[in-house]
Amino acid sequence: MAPRAKRRYACSECGGQQPQWTGQCPECGSWNTLEEVHVAGEVASGAARRAAAEVTTLAEVSTAPQPRITTGVAELDRVLGGGLVPGSVVLIGGEPGIGKSTLLLQTLAALSRSHGALYATGEESLQQVALRGQRLGVVDDALHLMAETAVEEVVAAAERLRPRALVLDSVQTFHTATLGSAPGSVAQVRESAAQLVRLAKASGTAVILVGHVTKEGALAGPRVLEHMVDTVLYFESDQGSRYRVVRAVKNRFGAANELGVFAMAEDGLRQVRNPSSIFLSRHDQDVPGSAVFVTREGSRPLLLEVQALVADSAGGQPRRVAVGLDGSRLALLLAVLQRHGGISTAGEDVFINVVGGVRVQETAGDLPALAAVLSSLRNRPLARDCVIFGELGLAGEVRPVPGGEERLSEAVKHGFVRAVVPKKNVPREGVPGMTIHPVQRLDEALEALFV
Ligand code: TYD
Ligand code: MG
Repeated sequence: MAPRAKRRYACSECGGQQPQWTGQCPECGSWNTLEEVHVAGEVASGAARRAAAEVTTLAEVSTAPQPRITTGVAELDRVLGGGLVPGSVVLIGGEPGIGKSTLLLQTLAALSRSHGALYATGEESLQQVALRGQRLGVVDDALHLMAETAVEEVVAAAERLRPRALVLDSVQTFHTATLGSAPGSVAQVRESAAQLVRLAKASGTAVILVGHVTKEGALAGPRVLEHMVDTVLYFESDQGSRYRVVRAVKNRFGAANELGVFAMAEDGLRQVRNPSSIFLSRHDQDVPGSAVFVTREGSRPLLLEVQALVADSAGGQPRRVAVGLDGSRLALLLAVLQRHGGISTAGEDVFINVVGGVRVQETAGDLPALAAVLSSLRNRPLARDCVIFGELGLAGEVRPVPGGEERLSEAVKHGFVRAVVPKKNVPREGVPGMTIHPVQRLDEALEALFV
């Protein structure tokens, strides 16, 4: 019996596939977004495919360490977990203009000296890419370029050239002939990416997909790709700042939350090897509302400054705004401050900002955030040579965070001589050159901070 032709319908908003056409997408609720798609590979009969599938045992699987391609950009290698893994797919997202194309052109130029590399651009002309290359000082004849928006063409070129690394900039501009929907629609982005994932796995080429994301993550495109790829990197930055932080939010071949730090200069992105010093605003005088803490995102400790502004909300609904910290975490911390520190911020607007555009994802920022709030509320500065870190529990207890000793020695390196930290984070032998105030409860911490 001939196999039945499969009909499927994909939503152009969320990419979800349905066996039947409906007016409203059952997954995202959008209206009139389902379009018919052809499902490649579905024609092979089930029996033929079942015979080919191989099964192995866990013990038989080779666990030799993944070989890595070092990109020549050490900060990028760090976020990737030690370099590009052949056959892996990396998604690198960020707002338009943040420096994705710049970083990748620099990286590919460095890579192409030792390995073949192909840069496919769907956004810019070859001339624009070449001009940027000149500006970056990477006029390199070994780097293959193509201006193209059809995925099939890029796949064919990659099969011909067999590059070690392939970049598609950006994935939203590519389209595949297998779908009828417009380029940029979620179904197109998803199907294009699926073809590139197949290419990577079959050929061993490392594929890097560039994706544009707006501040609110509004463009759903790159988000729907997160689960299809091996590694997801996002650019973070403060508006107007020249520093760029690249964070691994997912990595099948390394630690998540690893950070790479760059500075945008006239001739491209420069690596910042010692990022601790750049995120402190280094006031000349003591200012109220500022606290310095040590975060450890990924494997590297990093000194950051958190600023708070507490202002009378003039009878309106008090506002809580957190930039760089989770907003609901701030609400929770203020509740702990009220209940266990006896300090109320009802009737006050509270604004929190982590300097430098870094988004803190761990809880070590709890205590410093409250310290900054209190410092602003009382209009009393904290000591400039003091660092603070620690997690706060709902019962008012100060909990230890991982890597206490490492954080303290990073602070000493940058000239801090006092620390208010969770008791369990204090190394037994202490830290040479530093006076440490171990604290177990919020009220103890508040006392140690305002001596
Ligand atoms: P770009 O890499 O094009 O951003 P994306 O690909 O993420 O959209 O970066 C564009 C910005 O970077 C642009 O505003 C100019 C700036 N820039 C520099 O400051 N120096 C440089 O050497 C380059 C190439 C760009
Ligand atoms: Mg670009």
